[in-house]
Amino acid sequence: MSYNKQKARENGDKMKTRITDLSHDGRGIGQVDGKIIFVQGAYPGEEVEVKITKTKKNYLEGRATEILKKSADRIESVCPDFYHCNGCQYCDYTYQAQLDSKVARLKTNLKKFAGLEVEDIKIHPMENYKNYRNHVQLKVKDGKIGYVDKENFSVFEAKACLVWPEKTPELIEVLKTLPDLDRINLIGLRENYKGDLMVILVSKDEKKIKIEDQLADLKALGVSHIYQNINSNPRFHYGRKSKVLYGDGPFKEEILKNTFNLSPTSFFQVNRTQAEVLYKIGIENLDLKSTDKVLELYSGIGTISMGLAKEAAYVLGIEYNPEAVKDAKTNAKLNGLDNLDFKSGRAEDLLDKVSSDFNKTLLDPARAGADKKVLEKILEIAPEKISYISCDPATLCRDLGILIKDGSYKVDKVEIVDMFPLSSHVETIALIQKM
Ligand SMILES: C[S@@+](CC[C@H](N)C(=O)[O-])C[C@H]1O[C@@H](n2cnc3c(N)ncnc32)[C@H](O)[C@@H]1O
Repeated sequence: MSYNKQKARENGDKMKTRITDLSHDGRGIGQVDGKIIFVQGAYPGEEVEVKITKTKKNYLEGRATEILKKSADRIESVCPDFYHCNGCQYCDYTYQAQLDSKVARLKTNLKKFAGLEVEDIKIHPMENYKNYRNHVQLKVKDGKIGYVDKENFSVFEAKACLVWPEKTPELIEVLKTLPDLDRINLIGLRENYKGDLMVILVSKDEKKIKIEDQLADLKALGVSHIYQNINSNPRFHYGRKSKVLYGDGPFKEEILKNTFNLSPTSFFQVNRTQAEVLYKIGIENLDLKSTDKVLELYSGIGTISMGLAKEAAYVLGIEYNPEAVKDAKTNAKLNGLDNLDFKSGRAEDLLDKVSSDFNKTLLDPARAGADKKVLEKILEIAPEKISYISCDPATLCRDLGILIKDGSYKVDKVEIVDMFPLSSHVETIALIQKM
């Protein structure tokens, strides 16, 4: 089939395909005319009629228009907005099938990028996932506050999102009446362990956003902090600069019995319950002794660092976001710990400037994984154990491949903690040990 004919299909032709796998972003994978096709709204084992939406050199993209043979795991959607919201991927897929697909994806990546066949991968599920998110970002457009419609990129008002913080609908109703709503592009909502709420109003310009008339209603809903964040770069959700509009002292978080000050733009795992499971395993994997010196990379506000410092002799955390490092330093004091330091900068730039005297390492990078320079430096430091926490199986497995390449390390254990039910995201912990 020639290219142009395929292109013509984008204008309406429909074809049939059998789905054999799921992609990293939760789309069904099939074949059309010998080419891979990524199909929105289709699950493995299904036969679907598909409308081609994009023709690329090596693959096609499409949308299922009819399910001709249904997967036994397809269920009625648990969310009324699922078919047009760009948030979750698996609202009409059984929870067990979601978990199985995450394990399968990790196995495929381990084989493909690290040459590893791992049979037993334990997954820690979260059956009761209602309102699991402690942080959501809502778009603001034409007086509406909500999520983005994946069909036309407009903003729609969600009816009953299952995963956002419980008070979100009531907060939206109040925030919609802000007189400066047309200067706000995005609203962040964070909920802490006590149910206190933080509102982050993101504007392009610095002019103060008026909140006076809405403040009493917001406080009545549990809002303890309101920030204005200034961001003119549409590539990022939040900009670097935030101003306090309301709130006394820092916003507090708690995890694994440690207390944290949390700045509006600092990273904090969105699923607190499962983060505790994740961090416990990540720390336990290092089998810490009171004489151990731990190098922790991508340390954020120190959520894991405090747990490490309680068992080890010394911890050095390296983190890019200076706000997070400031929080981390305060958090060490708040938790009565003086055996840890934090340095602000890119791990790939800072590692050459710090001591190599570490016998254990924990890293928890963002989706891009670790820079090659960072992995080389870890190999040079040669810790006995490396605990790697990752939110992207492909970059994790690429990095594992680099760490085990020369044969001095092996991957001993790989586990998944389901941090993101209803979505295709996979959070993994790997233990890498010296041979
Ligand atoms: C997945 S978060 C983990 C944070 C922390 N471990 C936690 O669980 O709260 C990744 C962190 O890496 C930081 N980061 C991103 N790129 C970095 C880099 N090149 N060097 C150091 N830190 C970086 C981000 O600011 C973020 O805080």
